Amino acid sequence: MVEITFISNGGKVVQAPENSNLLRVSLKEQGGIPFKCGGGLCGTCRCLIEQGLEHTDAVKPKERKHLTEQDLEQGYRMACQTFVNGDIKVSWQPRTAPR
Ligand code: FES
Repeated sequence: MVEITFISNGGKVVQAPENSNLLRVSLKEQGGIPFKCGGGLCGTCRCLIEQGLEHTDAVKPKERKHLTEQDLEQGYRMACQTFVNGDIKVSWQPRTAPR
């Protein structure tokens, strides 16, 4: 099992099987990563792997449409396109919720 910390959700920590899709884990465990399409198209699930970037799989061509080389160097990924094979900590820009 791997441990995923959702920094932007109060540091919520969940366990998931190795090679889990990051967005799927977020949905299942209510991690809170924003998303729309789930298919690498909308760019909504952009997130920052603050720790454990080396525990994520290779960047997909779809991600490069939304992330610059500099973003990728900093550790940004698209959650719906990212698989996790070790402990990570992830943050994102919270959406402003309508009140
Ligand atoms: S949810 Fe649309 S790109 Fe990931």
